[in-house]
Amino acid sequence: MISIENLSVAFGGVTALNAVTVELRQPVCGIIGPNGAGKTTLLNVLSGFVLPQSGSIHMMDTDILPMKPHRRARWGLRRSFQKEQVVDELTVEDNVHVLLDQLGLSATERLNATAAALEFVGLSVLRRVSAGGLNAFERRMIEIARCVVGRPRVILLDEPGAGFSQGEVEKLRQVISSIHDATRSITLLIDHDVDLIQAVCRETMVLDFGSLIAVGNTASVLTDEKVRAVYLGMEDAA
Ligand SMILES: Nc1ncnc2c1ncn2[C@@H]1O[C@H](COP(=O)(O)OP(=O)(O)OP(=O)(O)O)[C@@H](O)[C@H]1O
Ligand SMILES: [Mg+2]
Repeated sequence: MISIENLSVAFGGVTALNAVTVELRQPVCGIIGPNGAGKTTLLNVLSGFVLPQSGSIHMMDTDILPMKPHRRARWGLRRSFQKEQVVDELTVEDNVHVLLDQLGLSATERLNATAAALEFVGLSVLRRVSAGGLNAFERRMIEIARCVVGRPRVILLDEPGAGFSQGEVEKLRQVISSIHDATRSITLLIDHDVDLIQAVCRETMVLDFGSLIAVGNTASVLTDEKVRAVYLGMEDAA
């Protein structure tokens, strides 16, 4: 379970998160909301790139905020970024392998963990290829492999579906839906694609101007009046 209490973040005069309190318990939880709502800021606080003004975060009863980003990674926190982080000059395998440097595993454990992660996302055959030669979807799969490698406990994905075709999003959906069975970790998924959110997230939270405006069962959240007004209404208008 991820328990967030009274979490606030301000950048100068902008309140990016406003006293957010929420408990997330499901294997895959959605985070939705309009542009600038604070979704990425929340992931940045969870992963340790942004320090909040106030609040606390417990992941499976561990107090996360005092831990530096590398300690959170060691604990089992993984994330992907809104902007892709794949290194073209490294092989597919090494793009995953480097993440394990900070986890304190033996050489054999690292090789096995990398092989398992690449197998999970379907990139085993491309493992020795330079990442620069891969297409955008395969590169996104490298990022998912980096998230599932080496006993993750909490995985944070920031708009993994953005820019892909329906067929590709469907493959992504299958991979994300399998993460919990393969690793027992909890995934938090930000995406603007409501169909993807609905397909993989049993639970969803909605942010608007930094405030939590709804949380709960995804189907009920998506029919909530407030949510429709601020979020789905915008989609209808688009
Ligand atoms: N490092 C920063 N410095 C100043 N302001 C920031 C910073 N990061 C985010 N913000 C502001 O905080 C607010 C929330 O931004 P955030 O990136 O978390 O939104 P988001 O919900 O992820 O939006 P999007 O859907 O466009 O990715 C915005 O007003 C943004 O301009
Ligand atoms: Mg964002």
